[in-house]
Amino acid sequence: MKIVVIQGPNLNMLGVREQNIYGPMKLEQIHAQMKEVATNSGVDIEFFQSNLEGEIVDKIQECYGDAHGMIINAAAYTHTSIAIRDAISAVSIPTIEVHISNIHRREEFRKTNMIAPVCTSSIVGFGPFGYHLAMVGMLQIMNEIAASQEAQRQTLQA
Ligand code: DQA
Repeated sequence: MKIVVIQGPNLNMLGVREQNIYGPMKLEQIHAQMKEVATNSGVDIEFFQSNLEGEIVDKIQECYGDAHGMIINAAAYTHTSIAIRDAISAVSIPTIEVHISNIHRREEFRKTNMIAPVCTSSIVGFGPFGYHLAMVGMLQIMNEIAASQEAQRQTLQA
């Protein structure tokens, strides 16, 4: 099983940008924690960050046939990108979106969310811990997929 983590614009600046909103943790530290959880669970994990919308669309498309789950923080593109929304919808892979801050209690423009309707679930407002929650949720989804595949296999054998 493989999980791909996709990080949108300015998330490479975590630890520097608006620490009062996003906290002091750097992206590399968040990824190191996620990697540890994945390794302990025997799951492959890949990390990708881009400031460019088209590169994020390309990465989502590359997940088709390669990844079993995606964890995405589309950052500012969450509020604007029909292209990223369509890409998530096209690949049809279980996807959890994460937002470090609670986008519902910030500026009005952050209340528009293009991505959420095509995601399996959304985790917002837990700070960087939200990525850990997303990992736990994604591992649960993977277990359920594996169990239903096994049940299907046994039905076919019977
Ligand atoms: C964010 C929230 C977005 O509104 C913002 O543009 C970001 C980060 C978050 O993780 O809280 O860059 O996605």
